[in-house]
Parts: sequence; C-alpha cells; structure tokens
Amino acid sequence: MGQTLPKPALRPFLAADTPVLAAIFTAAIEQLTGDDYSESQQQAWASSAADEEQFGKRLASELTLIAMLQNSPVGFAALKGADHIDMLYVHPSAAGQGVASMLCEALEKLAGGRGAKALTVDASDNATEFFAKRGYVAKQRNTVTVNGEWLANTTMQKSLADGATPGGAT
Ligand SMILES: CC(C)(COP(=O)(O)OP(=O)(O)OC[C@H]1O[C@@H](n2cnc3c(N)ncnc32)[C@H](O)[C@@H]1OP(=O)(O)O)[C@@H](O)C(=O)NCCC(=O)NCCS
Repeated sequence: MGQTLPKPALRPFLAADTPVLAAIFTAAIEQLTGDDYSESQQQAWASSAADEEQFGKRLASELTLIAMLQNSPVGFAALKGADHIDMLYVHPSAAGQGVASMLCEALEKLAGGRGAKALTVDASDNATEFFAKRGYVAKQRNTVTVNGEWLANTTMQKSLADGATPGGAT
C-alpha cells in the first residue's frame, strides 16, 4: 500500500546480457501468453532463444534496448531495420508496471528521429491490446511457423508522421 514503484532506466544491449534476456524471453512466453497459445506453441516460440549464440546475434544485429529496475534487466525491445519492432518482452515479475510502454516509446522516438514514417510489429495475440492502446492499427492477420508449430499474429502499424508521439494514439 502506498508503495511507489521505481522507474525503469533504459540502456543499450551488451553481448553479456544475452543469457538474462533469453531467460526474460522464455519466462514472458511461458507465463504471459497462455491465454492465447497452447503449451506446444509456447514451447516452440520460447525455443527460439535456446541457442544463446544465435539469440545473441539476433539481439546484436538489431537496435536492442534493455529496461533496468534496481540494476537488473526486466525487459527488452529490439528494432529491426529502420521501422519494425522485432521483439518486446517483459519479465512476468515486472509486468503491468509500464516497462513495455517505456521501451516501446523509446523505439518510436529513435525510429522517428531516424526518419521512419511508421513502425510495424507482428504482434502476438496477447500483445495486440497493448499495441492498440499505443495507437497501432491492425493491418493483416498472419500465420507463421515457429520451430514446427503454427502461430497466429497480427501485423500492426503506427504512423510516426508527426514525429513519434510518446504514449499517445494518433
Ligand atoms: C505484452 C508485454 C510486452 C506488455 O508488457 P508490460 O510491461 O506488462 O506492459 P505495460 O505495463 O507497459 O502496459 C501498458 C498498457 O497495456 C496494457 N497491457 C499490457 N499487456 C496487456 C495484455 N496482455 N492484455 C491487455 N492489455 C495489456 C496494460 O494494461 C497497460 O494499460 P494502461 O496503460 O491502460 O494501464 C508483456 O505482457 C509480454 O512480455 N508478453 C509476452 C511476450 C509478447 O507477447 N511480446 C510481444 C511480442 S510482439
């Protein structure tokens, strides 16, 4: 009661963060997506981080930001190319505290500052409401294979035409 939650700090990814981010990725999928995906779909999705070397390469090849709370990573987001959010994951213990909002806002500002007119994301079913609240609009329904399992997601897009509008729907 009355407890003020500390505000996360953001910093860029370092190679040494890979194991912690792989653990956040796995925990987020296992604990936050069960309403929308079956156990075998969750396992297939989470196994994308099983090969840490490959996962580290993916993180390093993108613009990856990490949210830190009390000096520990609690979430991360990665921008692929100029205008696509490839990853956004928050540890279940830190969910619902605005961590993803902060990460997403930072990527929107960075992409907008680099001249992107819009950002896209292939949002998992559990995350579509999160992105809709930030002004992303559903464009297309997809079904993709991930490690042998079919998973549905939705391509969503947010216009950055007026510069990234922090936190607001356009
Ligand atoms: C989706 C996810 C990143 C959200 O992280 P988070 O830090 O809990 O999100 P925030 O606290 O910033 O939430 C911001 C708003 O979105 C809403 N929201 C977040 N997750 C939601 C969900 N699963 N369903 C409905 N609304 C959600 C919050 O209620 C909040 O609304 P408010 O501003 O009205 O209070 C996190 O649940 C997650 O890691 N999920 C599993 C991995 C995943 O699917 N990632 C997306 C891949 S594209």
